[in-house]
Amino acid sequence: MKISFDPTNLFAGMVGQEHGLTAEEVTRATPAALDALAGFHKSVDDGRYGFPHLPFQAGGVKEILKYAATVRGSYDTVCVVGIGGSALGAWALDCGIRGPHPVQGRFSPEFPRLVILDNVDPDFIASALASMNPKRTLVAVIAKSGGTAETVATFLVVKDWLVKALGRKASQRIVAVTSAGRGDLKALATQENYATFHLPDNVGGRFSVLSAVGLLPAALIGIDIQKLSKGAAAITTASWKPDLAENQALQAALLHYLACTRKGKAIQVAFPYSNRLWGLAFWFRQLWAESLGKAKDRKGRLVHAGQTPVAALGATDQHSQVQLYMEGPNDKVFTFWAVAKPDSPGRIPKVRTGLEAFDVLAGQSLARLIDAERRATEAALTAQARPNCRFTLERCDAEHLGAFMQLMEFETAFAGEMLNINAFDQEGVELGKKFTFGLMGRKGFEQYRREFEAYEARRRAAG
Ligand code: PA5
Repeated sequence: MKISFDPTNLFAGMVGQEHGLTAEEVTRATPAALDALAGFHKSVDDGRYGFPHLPFQAGGVKEILKYAATVRGSYDTVCVVGIGGSALGAWALDCGIRGPHPVQGRFSPEFPRLVILDNVDPDFIASALASMNPKRTLVAVIAKSGGTAETVATFLVVKDWLVKALGRKASQRIVAVTSAGRGDLKALATQENYATFHLPDNVGGRFSVLSAVGLLPAALIGIDIQKLSKGAAAITTASWKPDLAENQALQAALLHYLACTRKGKAIQVAFPYSNRLWGLAFWFRQLWAESLGKAKDRKGRLVHAGQTPVAALGATDQHSQVQLYMEGPNDKVFTFWAVAKPDSPGRIPKVRTGLEAFDVLAGQSLARLIDAERRATEAALTAQARPNCRFTLERCDAEHLGAFMQLMEFETAFAGEMLNINAFDQEGVELGKKFTFGLMGRKGFEQYRREFEAYEARRRAAG
């Protein structure tokens, strides 16, 4: 497994003093990065945060593989009902290994597909149900809290659809992933006798891909979860090294932190040049946004910290976003993701047409072209003093994906430490949830309904 990080184009020597970092700035900030590592290590040792331990839990992997073996062959579709951290990791893995959407191979019991219901858009749910056969679908309902409105509502719809087709046997086609000792999903799973997997309390949703939250759906669609864990374990070991040169997660965290706080790069564009990594860009977007976007620092001071993540796909978005990236506000840092050895080279047939646009490419390969496009975009951005860096995965396989996801989780945790914020809570999403519960008539949320009505009255008065 090999992942490399190239930060050259983040530096002043390439993009100038105003937008680029200097070696002195990095040297000055290195003690803070090492403190961040030590601080996070202590929190992990104290049991506050658990994601670094996940790749080493061989017992959990075994349990999942055992369950997957008992149901294998009885379904052609795995339907995940979950949202946010309970859905995006599985989607990223599916896209990375089973293939990019919408061009995955035909699904069958030997090559089951994943359908993720992570929105309560009624038309989306209706179309999804119409596309699946309840007799050949295995439903995985995933919610750490066990009470997320979108997941609970969708699950009731899906469960009803299963029961109508299978009667009492429906519960054998449902598997739940939730917290062990709490929550309404846990209670329902016990009541209805669903196969159930748990995730540790100290692993937050967006950091949970290497727990049953991501590993169960991955195993059910045939991804090698032992290799995922193996790659993640190797990166975990490297991520504890107190040396920037050997610790890519710490180095990337420090450089992105400095680009954001010293050079005003308030936006990070995650720019994979690979459709198979496109799902991962959406997973990363949640990880970076929800972890680092915080009103207050750990001392309670108002800081409004964070760096807005944007997902862009190369080469596609060269024809959509790059005009802005080249000439618009210089408020972004670009992180390219490349795959050194794609599974298929994509040979371009050597046919002569006598036409320059065609003949120049004939006989070359799509792999060479996409690589040239990325390098050209990096060079063009650099020429416009737009700082950029690159991660290169040797291959896009389970081991590299597990490693890269764990690397980004460490990078996020370290960046949170440097920003002195809590990267593991998400208070900012709570108020909207409470208003929703108030509007949907949930007991105990009457106050939020009243607050919402007052807000509507204010709008009417303002309009
Ligand atoms: O990262 C997080 O904690 C969140 O994005 C959650 O994953 C999301 O809100 C879903 O929560 P739950 O798994 O409880 O349904």
